[in-house]
Amino acid sequence: MDMITGIKERRSIRKFKDEVVDRELMNEIMEVTKFAPSWANFQIARYTFVENKDLIAKLAHDGVKDFVYNVDTLKNATNVLVLSYVKGKSGRLDDYGIHNDDSKANVWEIFDAGIACQTFCLAAHAKGIGTVVMGVINDEAISKIVDLPENESVAALIVYGYPEGEHPAPSSRKSVAEIARFK
Ligand SMILES: Cc1cc2nc3c(=O)[nH]c(=O)nc-3n(C[C@H](O)[C@H](O)[C@H](O)COP(=O)(O)O)c2cc1C
Repeated sequence: MDMITGIKERRSIRKFKDEVVDRELMNEIMEVTKFAPSWANFQIARYTFVENKDLIAKLAHDGVKDFVYNVDTLKNATNVLVLSYVKGKSGRLDDYGIHNDDSKANVWEIFDAGIACQTFCLAAHAKGIGTVVMGVINDEAISKIVDLPENESVAALIVYGYPEGEHPAPSSRKSVAEIARFK
């Protein structure tokens, strides 16, 4: 799959086959995902793959603020990625006297996580694995459920798996004229 086709064809997938994704395939996807760029190449994104049914049920119960769409997606999920990042690193270049203590405080770490997120989703799509990013989450509850290290914070959940049913039609997009300007 070429890159442009992959970017255009990726869709949020919310229905999956009742099958845990092969770990070898997940390793292949991670071997691509790890090439995501990051602030100063600090590579702060961390990937916790949850296959355990009890943990996924806890994520559905406590991790998504009772948001009905996310609860429903998680109820049928066999695989969930907790995407987290190591705190307090991105946004700093101490050797150059640059620290993340201005209006962009802590922005670059979530920026890094966002790039890692999309890189994972595109790599997964290229390998036949569907994904949906979840931003309606209770990050503190999720940290406890999967026992994240103290120095990490949750960026998003990504439910992933073998897609079930038809590939969803593209949702609408603004025209380029609406979102881009040349000066
Ligand atoms: C930061 C972010 C947070 C999102 N949160 C949710 C969510 O909580 N639940 C959900 O079902 N979809 C969520 N989505 C998926 C979007 O709804 C979806 O990407 C958008 O509607 C465009 O559709 P597409 O991904 O199929 O192109 C999220 C996407 C992003 C990038």
